[in-house]
Amino acid sequence: MKQLILMAAGLLMTACCCNQQPTEVEPVATPVVYEAEIQLPAPDLTRGTTVGEALANRRSWREYSVEQLSLEELSGVLYAAAGINRPETKRLTAPSALALYPIRVYAFFKEGIYRYEAEEHKLVRVKEGNYMAVLGAQPFVAEAALNLVYVADLSVYADKPIPAEKVLYLCGQDAAGYAENVNLYTAGTGLRSITRGSASAELLAVIGLDAAQYAFALAQSVGK
Ligand SMILES: Cc1cc2nc3c(=O)[nH]c(=O)nc-3n(C[C@H](O)[C@H](O)[C@H](O)COP(=O)(O)O)c2cc1C
Repeated sequence: MKQLILMAAGLLMTACCCNQQPTEVEPVATPVVYEAEIQLPAPDLTRGTTVGEALANRRSWREYSVEQLSLEELSGVLYAAAGINRPETKRLTAPSALALYPIRVYAFFKEGIYRYEAEEHKLVRVKEGNYMAVLGAQPFVAEAALNLVYVADLSVYADKPIPAEKVLYLCGQDAAGYAENVNLYTAGTGLRSITRGSASAELLAVIGLDAAQYAFALAQSVGK
């Protein structure tokens, strides 16, 4: 009898184990602390859908909630835009014409403006405060948790025999690659984004950049 009870208990346990659904592990969501530097964790390269699903879901979003991005999401967004994916050559997730990499990535939060430093995968504060108003008149721009600004450093072309208008064209093309990487990352990870071509004339001055050396290339709102 005792043997029968033990056998039944064993069978029951096996049945329970076999019926168990794999428990989905919730992604870590660390809140961002907007200090002078925001050290981003290494990007989680396993996060998100397949590339095919991301392509199928890619669209421009013009509605955003007030919800902030987590530190892990921010890491993924910046890695997608301009993260170093080949440390031996310091080349990025996005391509660049002539591998000159003129694009500098600025992150505008309600808490301040930060510059992305790819080598250390961190954000460095440029100034505190909410400057979203200089990024465009469409209302969702100020509502999104993050606005990325792609600024071209024209000095990288200084010794290249390329006409000025062609330089601006190349910078715009580079920036579009950065932005589209982000659009695919957001589409694959349940975030929202939109590439935007406009910003106010004060933008460079607000960031503290000299218009003789830098040119606005592209902007992008990112959020939830
Ligand atoms: C270079 C570029 C600049 C854009 N600028 C804006 C913009 O300033 N405001 C906006 O609402 N949408 C902007 N868009 C988004 C387009 O309007 C959008 O991609 C288009 O309507 C197609 O919609 P979809 O992206 O959802 O497929 C821009 C897109 C690109 C590629």
